[in-house]
Amino acid sequence: MKYDVKNKSLSKAGKKRIEWALKRMPVLELIRARFAKEKPLKGVTLGACLHVTTESAALMLTLKEAGADVSLCASNPLSTQDDTAASLVWDYGIKVFAKHGEDSKTYYSHIRQVVMAHPQVTMDDGADVIAFIHKNHAADKNIVLPWASTEETTTGVIRLKALEREGKLLYPIVAVNDAHTKHLFDNRYGTGQSTLDGIIRATNRLIAGTTFVVAGYGWCSRGIAQKARGMGANVIVTEVDAFKALEAVMDGFRVMPMSEAVKPADVIVTATGDINVVAKPHFALMKDGVLLANSGHFNVEIELPALEKLCVAKREAKPMVMEYTLKNRKKINVLGEGRLVNLACAEGHPAEVMDLSFADQSLSAEYIVKHKDVLAKKVYKVPDEIDYSVAVLKLKAMGIAIDTLTAEQKKYLSSWEAGT
Ligand code: ADE
Repeated sequence: MKYDVKNKSLSKAGKKRIEWALKRMPVLELIRARFAKEKPLKGVTLGACLHVTTESAALMLTLKEAGADVSLCASNPLSTQDDTAASLVWDYGIKVFAKHGEDSKTYYSHIRQVVMAHPQVTMDDGADVIAFIHKNHAADKNIVLPWASTEETTTGVIRLKALEREGKLLYPIVAVNDAHTKHLFDNRYGTGQSTLDGIIRATNRLIAGTTFVVAGYGWCSRGIAQKARGMGANVIVTEVDAFKALEAVMDGFRVMPMSEAVKPADVIVTATGDINVVAKPHFALMKDGVLLANSGHFNVEIELPALEKLCVAKREAKPMVMEYTLKNRKKINVLGEGRLVNLACAEGHPAEVMDLSFADQSLSAEYIVKHKDVLAKKVYKVPDEIDYSVAVLKLKAMGIAIDTLTAEQKKYLSSWEAGT
């Protein structure tokens, strides 16, 4: 097996950082302790395509402890922490195929390496492994179909539901993103904080007093809008969905079309999952010095090819900040190549929130192994019992007790005669 992760000297720093994350992921720790005893993934080959961060490292260690033979590749070319990858390889014996800044060819060759390990269970963040298998399976007899896969993110689940709708899904999927303990916390609090973190680390820009535009009002984008407001920004939300737009209005945000919002904006962040949300007609309307960032899964939300054509000059103003000069001499700054700003310019979501998401991932992998013979070619929810148990464990780890219904209250709630 050939690794790109050759730099052993990085592993020392990576190990310390992994240990830092491990300490802040108590639910995963409890699961890891149980897995170490019960070995629910004994003999299972598992292939993961995730952001190669310290938090994903904690997940890989949990799966290994469960008895799985694990290999990991990146789910984005800019999100790999090379020191984390080095430590996983040299200190923990996990096979990692990922390098920060890898080009597209290398990115897909790494996905191929994971697929060629013939995983029975795969874990995706964005559905690239699943898409790779679906595209190449018919022509390449070396590709073995997994029993089932999990999917971490909204964009991935959307792609997989499209496959399911078209009747082309080749094996079952567990949509981890759709668990309450995933999207309500990771997407909202994780993306909210880490997106601001990425923007601030890349630019050191004062957020207070800025006009801050957020495209979308889904779980991720509402998290960003809330955090930006919390830091004193004047936040504008753009939406295409009337329910969500109305919610944004009633949450106290200004709502308007992007063509209007771009004019006063100091910062514009996309998190919609769709293409060309900030597009060619918008660039000329922007203020000098505007910052553009994307927090959606793919780097398609800002129409960068159009900006490349429109600009008369381009230079790196700061690491991870590309400054484009337009004919009108105004400058537009794009952060992290328009890729996930929270991972390209910072470290992704904090461990405390990934604790929930990766508890769901670990328990979903166990669920797949237990139920592989009865799962159909469908996109499944994380079972409610698993989802709820993760919330219970997190509260317990946080030392927070809650009330339980009395017998009288239970009876009252279950009766149609409730009232006076
Ligand atoms: N997605 C967002 N933040 C992440 C993190 N810290 N680790 C893995 N995946 C992530």
